[in-house]
Amino acid sequence: MSQITHDRLLIIDFGSQVTQLIARRLRELNVYCEIHPYQRVTDAFLQEMAPRAIIFSGGPDSVMREGSPRPPQAAYDLGVPILGICYGQQVMMQDLGGRVEAGEHATAEFGRAYVTATGVESDLLTGWFDDGTREQVWMSHGDHVSEIAPGFEVLGTSPGAPFAITADRARRFYAVQFHPEVHHTPNGARLYENFVRLAGFTGDWTMGAYREEAIAKIRAQVGDRRVICGLSGGVDSSVAAVLIHEAIGDQLTCVFVDHGLLRQNEAEEVVTMFRDHYNIPLIHADESDLFLGELYGVSDPETKRKIIGRLFIDVFQKHANAIEGAEFLAQGTLYPDVIESVSFSGGPSVTIKSHHNVGGLPEKMGLRLVEPLRELFKDEVRALGRKLGLPQSFIGRHPFPGPGLAIRCPGEITREKLAILRRADAVFIDQIRRHGLYDEIWQAFVAILPVRTVGVMGDGRTYDFACALRAVTSVDGMTADYYPFSHDFLGETATRIINEVKGINRVTYDITSKPPGTIEWE
Ligand code: XMP
Repeated sequence: MSQITHDRLLIIDFGSQVTQLIARRLRELNVYCEIHPYQRVTDAFLQEMAPRAIIFSGGPDSVMREGSPRPPQAAYDLGVPILGICYGQQVMMQDLGGRVEAGEHATAEFGRAYVTATGVESDLLTGWFDDGTREQVWMSHGDHVSEIAPGFEVLGTSPGAPFAITADRARRFYAVQFHPEVHHTPNGARLYENFVRLAGFTGDWTMGAYREEAIAKIRAQVGDRRVICGLSGGVDSSVAAVLIHEAIGDQLTCVFVDHGLLRQNEAEEVVTMFRDHYNIPLIHADESDLFLGELYGVSDPETKRKIIGRLFIDVFQKHANAIEGAEFLAQGTLYPDVIESVSFSGGPSVTIKSHHNVGGLPEKMGLRLVEPLRELFKDEVRALGRKLGLPQSFIGRHPFPGPGLAIRCPGEITREKLAILRRADAVFIDQIRRHGLYDEIWQAFVAILPVRTVGVMGDGRTYDFACALRAVTSVDGMTADYYPFSHDFLGETATRIINEVKGINRVTYDITSKPPGTIEWE
């Protein structure tokens, strides 16, 4: 559990795919919340966390099954408001004396549904039934509540869920059959807002407050000792570095490993910003000769990745060792990396995702970790970055993979190909920015293909490289779709690349989605 001093809301996770979205909705309301798997929520845990309210998430199990996930009785005895969602509703009803029936085809409900008001008033529903009677919601349930628990009233019903919204006003227990956290419940955020208001949250979880607290925590943890931070040029490590520097000044040294596989001007931009603008002590480890030397003649994608990963650790360690008296390693670990999520494959179990940007290094070097972003989601990190004065152009940058241009250069990597690739990539990104499309696209880049093709330019014949443009929309990089550029945009971009980049005479656009493709070419 974190050391956060704000009012806290506890989300008990019963394994829903969308539990993280509940947390997102609450954070947007400036409410501090934590997700914990149900197995972990014991009486002692509740005492220690002392949440101001609790939410029971949805989940894939059936409350009819012996041994299915439950909250502890103590959750009901705390005297704080509870909101149960889907499986969370069914569990609450069964625990408190209602009845749940197993799903049959006729009563299962998946997808869009409409909930109608029963006319019973509740603080939970302020501003909810927009036209006074009906709201669109997203249902996804097999089982359903067939009898509500004593003390509850029905506030809303749907054809498949007669007890779609229920409430026990005296105890401030609320339970809904649908999922207010998903996009397809358009007014869902309103339910969460009403719930946290009636629970007494003041919305004190702001980035300004977080910044002050984080700084105090870093100072308390580090004292007068030294910290090393591996800077990649990405948003997370940059925000972590600036925040830590604000806390402890020159006790922080950043190490920026330049593997020679960065984009055009990228190394200069990182060095200028951190060393010159923020005055952060920065070691720019230009190791491109080493990396490109070891990669010479290697064309297998996995071998490339392994070489880069191994060298990265060696180089980082070499430079970090030179920093005298360093006891801490800073990492830009985010909340989604540390959430223990309930996994139902092969029965309830807890998967702890661990995340080490510099794989195993802290243990190897005997360093302790400083992870000031552990409580934050990605867009909160961006908000914090803005507060710390990082430019928007930097904060809104598309993700860039650790192995860099190596995986955008299928086949052998040569300095010549990298130089061509950098120029073509810069033109493509410039085109995207000029047309105002950068923020609509999740990731965009050029891959230089291991083929030469014949062309004509002026009166001469050319025999140059072909390249592929890649631009995708995505939420998390797990699935992606190609971006639907106009033909004019594509034509203009191809012309610019061929005119401005010597060495490329053919441009293609990759319209593969993921799956079956991947975003990168290797
Ligand atoms: P794929 O190509 O797997 O990429 O669809 C999904 C996302 O992950 C990034 N990516 C990597 N990031 N090391 C990284 O740090 C890697 O080896 C790597 N491979 C892919 C990719 O850029 C995209 O954002």
